[in-house]
Amino acid sequence: MAFPTRRLRRLRRTPALRRLRAESAIGVDDVVAPLFVREDITEPNPIASLPGIVQHTRESLVKEARALVELGVPGVILFGVTKAKDATGSQASDPDGIVQVALRDLRDEVGDDLVLMADLCLDEYTDHGHCGVLDAGGQPDNDATLERYAEVAVAQADAGADVVAPSGMMDGQVGAIRAGLDGAGHAQAAILAYSAKYASALYGPFRDAVDVSIVGGTGDRRTYQQDPRNVREALAEVAEDVAEGADMVMVKPALAYLDVLAAVRAAVDVPVAAYHVSGEYAMVKAAAERGWIDGQAVALEHLGAIKRAGADFVLTYLARELAQSLHG
Ligand code: PBG
Repeated sequence: MAFPTRRLRRLRRTPALRRLRAESAIGVDDVVAPLFVREDITEPNPIASLPGIVQHTRESLVKEARALVELGVPGVILFGVTKAKDATGSQASDPDGIVQVALRDLRDEVGDDLVLMADLCLDEYTDHGHCGVLDAGGQPDNDATLERYAEVAVAQADAGADVVAPSGMMDGQVGAIRAGLDGAGHAQAAILAYSAKYASALYGPFRDAVDVSIVGGTGDRRTYQQDPRNVREALAEVAEDVAEGADMVMVKPALAYLDVLAAVRAAVDVPVAAYHVSGEYAMVKAAAERGWIDGQAVALEHLGAIKRAGADFVLTYLARELAQSLHG
């Protein structure tokens, strides 16, 4: 009896055949490590809900960056943890604010060996925990916040950031930041826009990491972050950001939004990033700790899936582990 159909198992027979016909791959060149730096500590401070991740001191941050360079990781994204919070998040743009100081330390240590990205937002620095300055109704005032974002961008670029990454989901933020950077002589500073950033329950451990709790209102970001039910809206956000000058765009979180990632990949030619966020990482670690899954295998599967769906690179707390396992 004839079977004219293709036998798909033929090309799965040996590891070498499988390697040869692989359609996508995740490697050390594809990851960016998120790092937290805190101003009032003398020892690195573990984050309970992000096992293996710490709030760094300035010194331990520099050491970590050096280790990442040795492992071949091409980029980091910095988040600051500050005690001095106020209504406008003034520490975010202060030249002596923790992220600016840390950026200078890192630039001194690693030169151009590492792409230095800075998360550009106010929530780590405001006493109310929102991503902007508030209007009378207690929600971020869009245009007043844009002025602050431009100031933060300039402070970060002055301190040596290669890339600023606005994550606040205000309308017009990319255009305002581009104008601010260009006006301050930072034409070379690039913008990675958190374009399709959803109002997700998966940011919980991150908010522990930066000591943020959202005060007042409904205690969430649903008036500015995207509705998880929508995908066309993500394409509108991405189109606006690219038109305003975004050099790269991002989808966040990653795994629950792979359809969005694939749609964004198909719609634009700029590099597309995805953020495998704190909750995604924590779930892998928690289940692995109980022996319920093979953590390393699941981590690779997660990151590989994000690449397959169309990401050029992935912001992930797994960056160091991935690099170590590939070197090992
Ligand atoms: C905002 C910001 C957040 C994350 C990255 N940038 C938190 C938020 O929007 O509430 C989340 C990252 C993660 O969960 O890993 N500055």
